[in-house]
Amino acid sequence: MIVPISNSIFGIRIFYRGVMRIIVADTKEEVALIAATLMSEQILRKMNSVIGLATGKTMEPVYEHFKKLVDSQKLDLNQLHFFMLDEYIGLDLKHSSSFQSYIKQRVLKPLNLSEAQFSFPPANLPEDSAGDAYEKEIEQFHGVDFQLLGVGRNGHIGFNEPGSERKSLTRVVRLTEDTREANQSDFSDRSVPDLALSMGIETIFRAKELVLIATGVSKADAIHHLMNSNESSECPVTFLKSHERFTLVLDREAASRLS
Ligand code: GLP
Repeated sequence: MIVPISNSIFGIRIFYRGVMRIIVADTKEEVALIAATLMSEQILRKMNSVIGLATGKTMEPVYEHFKKLVDSQKLDLNQLHFFMLDEYIGLDLKHSSSFQSYIKQRVLKPLNLSEAQFSFPPANLPEDSAGDAYEKEIEQFHGVDFQLLGVGRNGHIGFNEPGSERKSLTRVVRLTEDTREANQSDFSDRSVPDLALSMGIETIFRAKELVLIATGVSKADAIHHLMNSNESSECPVTFLKSHERFTLVLDREAASRLS
């Protein structure tokens, strides 16, 4: 049973289920503005926050709104550090479709941040040491304070595909055909790599706060599972619902299968 705590504040509905907060807005633009606002609030609370960033089409308007908020509120970002969720393996990191390029183009450069403020999954290291190296780097920063997340239409988070274990840490993963097909539009010159280095579910779960955003009808099934299925590696996003600070921000389409 979802209990609404506040109906229709500017068309946005906020519900709690246990400790999970669910915000439903009308449009993906509103979802993006809400996510950008939550990230800004985190920075106002802690100027040296460690922020986990995600990629994907869902996040593009989030970073646009975040830049506008940073400019209008004159937020100081100089003490922040950022960790990326995942990266393809077998792709030149300078390739325009690498997640590193995505973040440089949409976050690092527009916000005039320094490269030293970013940690990217070391997808060019040998496969047996890359995951441990990234986990150690996260530990050196005393963990992630605020993690932004999207979700794949099959319920993957980061690149934790169905079958991923709750205890998984950063590791090399094989992408499903469904995910490769979903991401093919990002690649004009080649097929989507079939391997990636991804934070694990346990890595993500260790962040002090999680904000997952989902927009569009293609995410409605994954959100339905998150809300209605037991925690299961068949749909990795379901693991997040036991996190003690978890906010889900949805547009009407992504929420369309919820009662
Ligand atoms: C990608 C990323 C995820 C992202 C998801 C959804 O492949 N690895 O971090 O959340 O798939 O992407 P989109 O927002 O484009 O639907």
